[in-house]
Amino acid sequence: MTEQNLQAADAAERTVAWVDDLIDRFASLSETHGSDGVTRLGYTPLERRAHQVFATFMSDLGLSVHSDTAGNTIAELAGDGRCDGIGTGSHLDSVPHGGRFDGIVGVVAAMLCAQTLTSSGYQPRHPLRFVVFANEEGARFGQACNGSRLAAGTTDAEALGELRDRDGISVLEAMHSVGLDPERLNDARWRREDWDSFVEVHIEQGSVLADGADDIGIVDTISGSTRLRLTVHGVASHSGGTPMLARHDALVSASAIVLAANALARDPEHFGTRITIGRIVASPNSMTTIPGEVTLDVDIRDVDTDRQRQTALALIAKAKELALLHETSLDAHLIADTAPTLLSHRLVELASHETDRLGMVHRVLPSGASHDTQQISHVCETGMLFVPSRHGGVSHSPDEFSRTDDIARGVQVLTGLVKALDLTDRQPRS
Ligand code: GLV
Ligand code: MN
Ligand code: MN
Repeated sequence: MTEQNLQAADAAERTVAWVDDLIDRFASLSETHGSDGVTRLGYTPLERRAHQVFATFMSDLGLSVHSDTAGNTIAELAGDGRCDGIGTGSHLDSVPHGGRFDGIVGVVAAMLCAQTLTSSGYQPRHPLRFVVFANEEGARFGQACNGSRLAAGTTDAEALGELRDRDGISVLEAMHSVGLDPERLNDARWRREDWDSFVEVHIEQGSVLADGADDIGIVDTISGSTRLRLTVHGVASHSGGTPMLARHDALVSASAIVLAANALARDPEHFGTRITIGRIVASPNSMTTIPGEVTLDVDIRDVDTDRQRQTALALIAKAKELALLHETSLDAHLIADTAPTLLSHRLVELASHETDRLGMVHRVLPSGASHDTQQISHVCETGMLFVPSRHGGVSHSPDEFSRTDDIARGVQVLTGLVKALDLTDRQPRS
């Protein structure tokens, strides 16, 4: 073994030891524990503490760290004076009762990539930036990728003021409550000239890689999502006194709409479309009152922009028809809409080359979930690496699981890819 090989083997062993330690550290910062999973919602003190763990680790490595007005945390390893940085990172917030790996794996990969580079004395040409985006999950406010949207300039204070969580707290109020200044959100905006490229490592959140016995995935497309709130208006009335034929039951109507949404996504014409109604609020939600109003939060995902939007329109039309059929009425409100995103072909090629060099088996695949990278693709060239998800690919659940050796492979490919990007001069963008 050459000295270089020995150093590489040593670094790989250290990485494996750190992966479990860091994943455990982040999982302990949670409202819920054990079989109740991880709950660390965006713009809460727990999310801020997780960002602080990242910040301390990175400043201990000697990187300069700052937090922006969107609550994103950025650690930088200086380059040779040029300003177009190469970035990597992900998010540290979770859904309620989520897993230990969604977002965390990309942040841990960034931390260990920085550790590998600094411990080997690597002197980058480009500034290398390791990023934790704030409030990525759409679970709290309905719209995903808050911190990266602010960085990319795809949202603003006015739009964020309208998004509220289930307790009626707006995004801006939540930011304020954790010490951020929503008056200065524009300061978080990234300038195109400051960025060369960005790569995010994430768990697959599906079982394609594990089923195919692949070591790692390289993402070429990220699904879009259209999110709707359908509100069915009926008449709340006595459950005993109101004859069946005189009812305007909003939940009966809503149930027909849930089944119709499922049938629509399963129609062969919509192969690849996914529709989920994951949140239902019935009012007054009382056993002895006919539901007078029901809201359904609908998430439509697709890799085909036209099909995604046509599906949303078709679902609204069908829901209106069903609401009338059940003698109720319906309002439809658009909560958020993000188009599918094509990632950089050059980054797919560089990543494929890197996995081949490391003797790993890769697969190029689309992402069904949304990611911060989708927003960052408005700023610079972007790519994603997927670490296999085990347990059948279950995610947004306490059963979410990825193996340490798989994550360590993700760190290895990321580190090689960051170096390759650092050394490759790309064609100037027009
Ligand atoms: C992010 O986790 C998403 O909802 O796709
Ligand atoms: Mn995620
Ligand atoms: Mn998620």
